[in-house]
Amino acid sequence: MDVIIEKLDHFGRGICHIDQKICFVPYTLPGDYCDIRIIREKKSFLEGCLQKIINESPYRIHSSCPHFDHCGGCQFQNMMFSYENQYKEEKVKEIMERFGEISPSIVRPILFSNSSLYRNKIVLHGKDGVLGFYSSKSHDIVPIHECHLVLPKIQEIISFLHSYPHDISEVTIKCSNDQKYVMVSLNGPFSEISLLKDKVDVLIYNGKCLSRESSILTSIGNVSFYQEPSSFFQVHSQFTKDLYDEVSRFAQRKRPSTILDLYCGCGTIGIYVSLSNTSLIGVDSNPSNISQAIRNAELHSLSSYHYYCDKVENRIDEFSNIDFVIVDPPRAGLDSKTRDVLKVMLPSSIAYVSCDPVSLARDLKDLSSYYQIESIQPFNLFPRTYHVECVALLSLKNS
Ligand SMILES: C[S@@+](CC[C@H](N)C(=O)[O-])C[C@H]1O[C@@H](n2cnc3c(N)ncnc32)[C@H](O)[C@@H]1O
Repeated sequence: MDVIIEKLDHFGRGICHIDQKICFVPYTLPGDYCDIRIIREKKSFLEGCLQKIINESPYRIHSSCPHFDHCGGCQFQNMMFSYENQYKEEKVKEIMERFGEISPSIVRPILFSNSSLYRNKIVLHGKDGVLGFYSSKSHDIVPIHECHLVLPKIQEIISFLHSYPHDISEVTIKCSNDQKYVMVSLNGPFSEISLLKDKVDVLIYNGKCLSRESSILTSIGNVSFYQEPSSFFQVHSQFTKDLYDEVSRFAQRKRPSTILDLYCGCGTIGIYVSLSNTSLIGVDSNPSNISQAIRNAELHSLSSYHYYCDKVENRIDEFSNIDFVIVDPPRAGLDSKTRDVLKVMLPSSIAYVSCDPVSLARDLKDLSSYYQIESIQPFNLFPRTYHVECVALLSLKNS
């Protein structure tokens, strides 16, 4: 069936209409005139599969990635990067208006950096000696020999693993942002484990640490941080600095005496933005993150800090006299208890870092009776995927 793709949905899928029913077609772009096959028919929508492009969208480019068609790791290798940025900025504006009743004029122009060779982490899955990503179309594993998103140091390890017999079930490869240090956590048999051990700085093999160290030192801008294979760390090796600088400038303007860093990961944002005499409190539910956060606070000789390994919702009502809160929750956003306690705590400033504009819009709408939204800054932190990161800066009304 021949259709013209009208626009992209929030998950980066092309949209067209067939007999007034909306139809989602992954890997198509606005302006594509294409032949599609309907693969799912629901009451309110259809799902189509691209068969052949008849006339190309003006935004279409050739993808040089050999795995793009079936790997499922990225969605936009076939799209002009300028159009990807435009799409993400418009998506944030649309979501803010629709789910947050927030004027699009508050959303600033999107910021972006390099679109390839940026990721400092990859997780590959394996079965029966095949190592790669889960397919976008099934639960099969698509063998991945090269990935255009990862740093060269990670690519080197991927190629190394492929060149020896293995039955790996999962492998996480991470490197420091300057590519000096590499960490690998590998599950399942690998024939050349001692060769691999010599190649990397941290090796966790079937849950056991075989190297002297279990963490590596990496940096965001000029600030160094420890991280382990299982700890959270922002994946964009260069552009994370710009994201953190946005929060840092806000903190410098507000000059808080106490910062509460919720969902703090390895403590990175809180430590990055802390001024010399700031007290820092961090909360994260992952023990590996908290052990690294404490190490990172020691590394930077912070004068006053405390980290809690717990869910934010279990601790949030224990804090008082906080004037600056950073929240950086997972995609689901803030839970209702955390939002309610923030509305009683009323810190004078909140920096909200979000990887999901829909939950961000919902939470901002809820906080907006007490807070003025100064700005929402989108960052293209995950190029070639439909994901977008935002920083919203909030100031207490009448403070
Ligand atoms: C997007 S990451 C933010 C990490 C950190 N702010 C950074 O910039 O590296 C979200 C973090 O929330 C943590 N997390 C998830 N659910 C949580 C919860 N209910 N309470 C506390 N931490 C949680 C995860 O362990 C993860 O470190």
